Amino acid sequence: MVSMVRFKKPFLAITFVFFFILSDVSLARIENTKDNQKSTYIVHAAKSQMPTILNHHSIWYRSILKSISNSTTEMLYTYDNAIHGFSTRLTPEEARSLKSQIGVLKVLPEKIYKPLTTRTPQFLGLEKISNMFPVSNVTSDIIIGLLDTGVWPESKSFDDTGLGPIPTSWKGTCESGDNFTAANCNKKLIGARFFLKGYEASVGPLNATKQFRSPRDADGHGTHTASTAAGSAVKGANLFGYASGTSRGMAPHARVAIYKVCWEDNCVASDLLAAMDAAIADNVNVISASLGGEAIDYDEENLAIGAFAAMEKGIVVSCAAGNSGPTKSSLQNVAPWVITVGAGSIDRDFPVYVKLGNGENYQGVSINDGSFTPRTFVPLIYAGNASVKEGAEFCVKDSLDPEKVKGKIVFCDRGNNSRVEKGIVVKSAGGVGMVLGNSETNGEELVADAHLLPAAAVGFNSSKAIKMYLQHAQNPTATLVFQGTKVGIEPSPIVSAFSSRGPNPITPDILKPDFIAPGLNILAAFTKNAGPTNLEIDDRRVDFNLITGTSMSCPHASGIAALIKSTYPNWSPAAIRSALMTTAYTSYNNGKKLLDSATNAPATPFGVGAGHVNPIAALNPGLVYDLTADDYLNFLCALNYTADRIEAVARRKFTCDAHKHYSVTDLNYPSFGVVFKPIARSSNATIVKHERTLTNVGVAGTYKVSVTLDIPSVNVTVEPNVLSFNKNEKKSYTVTFAASYPPPPTQLGFGRLEWSNGKNIVGSPISITWELGPK
Ligand SMILES: *[C@@H]1O[C@H](CO)[C@@H](O)[C@H](O)[C@H]1NC(C)=O
Ligand SMILES: *[C@@H]1O[C@H](CO)[C@@H](O)[C@H](O)[C@H]1NC(C)=O
Ligand SMILES: *[C@@H]1O[C@H](CO)[C@@H](O)[C@H](O)[C@H]1NC(C)=O
Ligand SMILES: *[C@@H]1O[C@H](CO)[C@@H](O)[C@H](O)[C@H]1NC(C)=O
Ligand SMILES: *[C@@H]1O[C@H](CO)[C@@H](O)[C@H](O)[C@H]1NC(C)=O
Ligand SMILES: *[C@@H]1O[C@H](CO)[C@@H](O)[C@H](O)[C@H]1NC(C)=O
Ligand SMILES: *[C@@H]1O[C@H](CO)[C@@H](O)[C@H](O)[C@H]1NC(C)=O
Ligand SMILES: *[C@@H]1O[C@H](CO)[C@@H](O)[C@H](O)[C@H]1NC(C)=O
Ligand SMILES: *[C@@H]1O[C@H](CO)[C@@H](O)[C@H](O)[C@H]1NC(C)=O
Ligand SMILES: *[C@@H]1O[C@H](CO)[C@@H](O)[C@H](O)[C@H]1NC(C)=O
Repeated sequence: MVSMVRFKKPFLAITFVFFFILSDVSLARIENTKDNQKSTYIVHAAKSQMPTILNHHSIWYRSILKSISNSTTEMLYTYDNAIHGFSTRLTPEEARSLKSQIGVLKVLPEKIYKPLTTRTPQFLGLEKISNMFPVSNVTSDIIIGLLDTGVWPESKSFDDTGLGPIPTSWKGTCESGDNFTAANCNKKLIGARFFLKGYEASVGPLNATKQFRSPRDADGHGTHTASTAAGSAVKGANLFGYASGTSRGMAPHARVAIYKVCWEDNCVASDLLAAMDAAIADNVNVISASLGGEAIDYDEENLAIGAFAAMEKGIVVSCAAGNSGPTKSSLQNVAPWVITVGAGSIDRDFPVYVKLGNGENYQGVSINDGSFTPRTFVPLIYAGNASVKEGAEFCVKDSLDPEKVKGKIVFCDRGNNSRVEKGIVVKSAGGVGMVLGNSETNGEELVADAHLLPAAAVGFNSSKAIKMYLQHAQNPTATLVFQGTKVGIEPSPIVSAFSSRGPNPITPDILKPDFIAPGLNILAAFTKNAGPTNLEIDDRRVDFNLITGTSMSCPHASGIAALIKSTYPNWSPAAIRSALMTTAYTSYNNGKKLLDSATNAPATPFGVGAGHVNPIAALNPGLVYDLTADDYLNFLCALNYTADRIEAVARRKFTCDAHKHYSVTDLNYPSFGVVFKPIARSSNATIVKHERTLTNVGVAGTYKVSVTLDIPSVNVTVEPNVLSFNKNEKKSYTVTFAASYPPPPTQLGFGRLEWSNGKNIVGSPISITWELGPK
């Protein structure tokens, strides 16, 4: 079949012969059609091996391709900044033979990433520092590039009033396309581009009735993240009157550059790399990537490789940690040169009461779009008891019996399908309201959705109680009483149950996530192309929407990183991340530790990382843990990467010194992931040492260390335990962790190491794990 397509194109006779031969080869595999089919591959080339006679890399890449295939294989992209190489369509056979060609480092299959969705300035204390950042020339010189679903340029969040001229460093463009022209850009939204060759090659042609072939955002996710990072202040923002107030991005004077790479929930690696390639060339200062896929090794992960190139250019890359929590080891985007941002709640809630016929009252959350009139008590039914199809308890499509749910409030279990779809399933079966009950994994965490019918989301506890009532009441009834918006909720933040958890699935010695930021029920700008539920049937249109996910926490971090970058233009991405991590807070004002929504117990560093981001403190961290590109390459040496694997990440030759001892524990990271080998009763202890170097970025002074650990079987010593710094001085120290037999039954421990001069506290989280059995 593939051959026929090829033969349609005119070929030279000689090529024809070649195809004939190839077809013969293919004939033997005719049953295995998959093996004949082309799919996208990203080819990483060793530019150091480019023949000098070829004066441009694209000529070289074509000649590499020719060497394995005489077909007129389309180049999707050639890359020069994010990686050296190209993406193209190949059969698995061609991909295999390409791997053995001289100068080819990696031939990686296409990967699909997903956007990570499920009163922030006040909550973060940013109000206090708005005076520190007037529409000054510094902050407004910072450019944040967003890899996302595009932008709705008419949103007031991209109003450029008061902004000076576009920074001269900017080299990007504003591309035209469907419903988008260069006139849609301004001094706030300074650039907008779109990348979809890879998407169309893998997924198929874009559905132009749903999507814009341009930077315009059909989905809302990209508009939301961009305005969270750097939206201009908009007074009176709200969703149906909820969460009303001034909406403002974290860095309201920074510039926005849009790189649209996600189309109908799919963002493919080849497009993502092309966008990063452009963002690097365009001179953005921060890249914000609210998308992810399953974590894979650094040299196989194109997003991580592109981020390495960005980091080398001084660009901060901030990524979502993933929404796969509270499952253990579910983190995404874990490369040590990116910022990995988890999510937490804020101090705002949208309460609703579920009043039951027996007089009991359960609080949940709800967004009422104003069209829902107050009701009296109506019958309440469990969806699982109104089933015409499997999955009724989850209210999956067409699973409810209209006879049984008509005129009733329907109780649906959370899980399986999307929360907003359950609402529409109930509504279309004739239900007049919905109670959405959390499962045990969701715990007490409540997501506010703008359902298409009156609805209340309730926590696991209430869910159990309401089900109990349903089982025992003769004629169960209920009503919903909406309470609007409530602020000042305590305690907050709480680590979100959905936020992905450590340990780091790739390198457990590097503790991730780095920290958390607001990600639950976040209000920010939205597209006018979709309703707030993103359901096709939802024809409501809103200026702002509440969305949930690490997709939302990531741009908070990106915007705050931009503030730090504007204050300290010469700081490396590692120094900026260090400032964000070591100043993050781990307890509430009353001294109690931040809680985790999944356990209702104190959060561990596997959920909260270094703590919750604190933008004001991050502007004055005292000391930082800095890192250079070569430090990360030494880290890859410690992981025993071959020269080729390192070159695929670094885009240049880097030789590990055979006589040098490299250790993963020496990467100058602002946290400690301690991994012990199993201890035998016969040996007295196992020891793990971590080396670190601090750079004084504050005033001269003396810092003392303190360490707390929650397990007695591990001893920690820090040498030296007092460090005196002159201005800009660097000082090193060693932490020795000694574990005695036996390890605790959980084989898990947590703690914290802090350096303090009495004013600045430079804090690092510690995780302690034991490797499973000897390898
Ligand atoms: C492509 O065609 C040329 C000329 O016939 C031939 O020498 C070469 O081996 C072919 N390449 C492949 C990969 O078959
Ligand atoms: C810098 O500040 C001056 C004075 O406030 C202003 O006129 C100018 O437009 C600003 N430039 C930028 C790039 O914001
Ligand atoms: C996009 O442009 C087309 C053609 O001008 C117009 O019909 C359509 O309404 C526009 N769509 C949006 C969402 O603005
Ligand atoms: C494109 O989207 C429209 C609107 O959702 C849908 O009706 C149509 O079937 C889609 N077309 C294709 C080819 O998927
Ligand atoms: C959702 O429920 C349907 C019906 O019970 C089932 O077939 C499907 O496997 C479920 N999907 C998930 C992801 O649980
Ligand atoms: C849930 O109920 C249990 C048992 O009644 C109680 O111990 C726990 O504190 C409750 N959790 C919340 C968050 O209300
Ligand atoms: C579902 O219906 C069965 C049979 O009538 C009843 O025993 C059970 O309590 C109901 N369950 C719920 C949660 O309403
Ligand atoms: C790297 O190789 C050395 C020597 O074989 C070994 O001791 C070490 O454990 C390896 N490191 C990793 C991270 O695999
Ligand atoms: C364990 O302790 C014994 C007694 O103190 C000592 O002789 C021995 O050297 C120790 N072994 C190790 C591996 O440290
Ligand atoms: C930890 O310290 C205690 C008290 O100094 C000591 O008895 C114990 O042997 C130490 N354990 C290890 C593993 O070093």
